Amino acid sequence: ADFGTPEVRSDTQVTLEIDGRAVTVPAGTTVMRAAAVAGGSIPKLCATDNLKQFGSCRLCLVEIDGMRGTPASCTTPVTEGMKVHTQTEKLARLRRGVMELYISDHPLDCLTCSANNDCELQDQAAAVGLRDVRYGYEGAHHLAAPTDASNPYFDFDATKCIVCSRCVRACDEVQGTLALTVEGRGFGSQISAGVKSDDFLSSECVSCGACVQACPTSALMEKAVTEIGKPERAVVTTCAYCGVGCTF
Ligand code: FES
Repeated sequence: ADFGTPEVRSDTQVTLEIDGRAVTVPAGTTVMRAAAVAGGSIPKLCATDNLKQFGSCRLCLVEIDGMRGTPASCTTPVTEGMKVHTQTEKLARLRRGVMELYISDHPLDCLTCSANNDCELQDQAAAVGLRDVRYGYEGAHHLAAPTDASNPYFDFDATKCIVCSRCVRACDEVQGTLALTVEGRGFGSQISAGVKSDDFLSSECVSCGACVQACPTSALMEKAVTEIGKPERAVVTTCAYCGVGCTF
């Protein structure tokens, strides 16, 4: 199952209500994970089971009785007696609005994209019921960004990047390399390997593939997949030395 945020261990249990269903989870658990434990599902792009929650994509908004606004479920911890609503009309409207902004600055080449049918952006756009984009398609940002093909194992296509920072956090938390960062702001923000003009090959990157594994689109994609398509079977490894996938 995909719980959205990492498991938390605690001797204290907290009981809350999510969409009318009671659920009990360890204290410190996020609302997103509690919703998954209760059998629900909240749209998300920047949260994963194995990376610290970051709260950047704003797709996972929920409503909580007694709380102002619409907090991100991936960064909001549960509290005793909390009443959470994850599927209201207001939330559906907000999530579609957020997704519109992502799609307005994303190439619409899904049918020929190497991530077609294996793309979280595509899945989440469908999950929030996106039908139209009021801001036009294919914003200027991605058209100007060249692909960084310097690494022998994977390419970085900035046009497909949604700057969720999952790659940056995987590089830090999974591999401990700290080779990646986010530069700039707004439409000018982009993932960068090293400082300014450094490409992946000349950066501190050790080619472990943790960033490729974490990417929710095809912005970071193995060259082999781009060239010959998805394999029928895959082994996941975060080892920098080989791709066998041993576990220790
Ligand atoms: Fe919560 Fe992105 S999944 S803000």
